Amino acid sequence: MNVLTLEDISKKYLFAKKLALDDLNLSVSENSIFGFLGPNGAGKSTTINIIARLVKKDTGKVYFRNQEIKDGDYEYKRQVGFVLERPTYFEKLTVKEYLEFAGSMYDIEKNEIKKRAQELIEFLELSEKQNEWIEKYSAGMKKKVSLAAAIIHKPKLLILDEPLEGIDPISAKRIKDVLKQMVQNGTTVLITSHVLDTIEKLCDEIAIINKGKLVFQSKTEDIRSKIKNEITQETYQSLEEIFIDVVANKSEDKQKGKLSWL
Ligand SMILES: Nc1ncnc2c1ncn2[C@@H]1O[C@H](COP(=O)(O)OP(=O)(O)OP(=O)(O)O)[C@@H](O)[C@H]1O
Ligand SMILES: [Mg+2]
Repeated sequence: MNVLTLEDISKKYLFAKKLALDDLNLSVSENSIFGFLGPNGAGKSTTINIIARLVKKDTGKVYFRNQEIKDGDYEYKRQVGFVLERPTYFEKLTVKEYLEFAGSMYDIEKNEIKKRAQELIEFLELSEKQNEWIEKYSAGMKKKVSLAAAIIHKPKLLILDEPLEGIDPISAKRIKDVLKQMVQNGTTVLITSHVLDTIEKLCDEIAIINKGKLVFQSKTEDIRSKIKNEITQETYQSLEEIFIDVVANKSEDKQKGKLSWL
């Protein structure tokens, strides 16, 4: 079953000259880690904000577990967790207060929320500053708070917009391991990142969008076998090469790839 389906989504921001999303189609199958890639400005965050219903789409349909999300629907959010590109926090709460507040929005018993919040604080190595307001946290620590709030209710679908940006390597490893564990327990993860090595190792499936359109989608194992086949022909193709291949405009890029004054 597809946990998420986007059908012909278009979006043009007010006063923009071009479409941010141009008839975007995407399907994300259950129990997978799905890498959602694209260059800066491709439309990844716009897509995620549309799924979160923070940005209004112009046309198209969004389905969560084969049910269309319509205007006014909020029920699906009980089963979805989001780390947004620019998360908002209640800066004058401690992490414990914030996570308990986030947990209270779902049908979880109070003691269970407290238990999960404490475990998340320790897991994400936030204990040292757990009694300080979030406004005093570093950028990476704030990202961790956002991730903790996104998973406290064990969502069916977890949508992460650059969740590892600014996170130290030790915590990043832990987070990647916990994402894999969540998938084993029935969650589907959609993740954006510009770090292609991470995506290639972590994800089961990869989609690349460019200028608001889907330009590539493949299971990671198919990419790997493609890479393998091409090794024997001595034309190795990494995900990076595939990305550049499907996204870059070769003739334009030749001119743009240099600084005239260097
Ligand atoms: N609030 C906004 N108002 C107007 N235009 C916007 C707004 N947000 C995004 N855009 C435009 O929509 C397009 C898609 O942007 P979006 O943020 O979705 O890209 P992205 O793929 O997330 O990029 P990045 O990798 O840099 O995060 C861009 O042209 C951007 O300038
Ligand atoms: Mg973005």
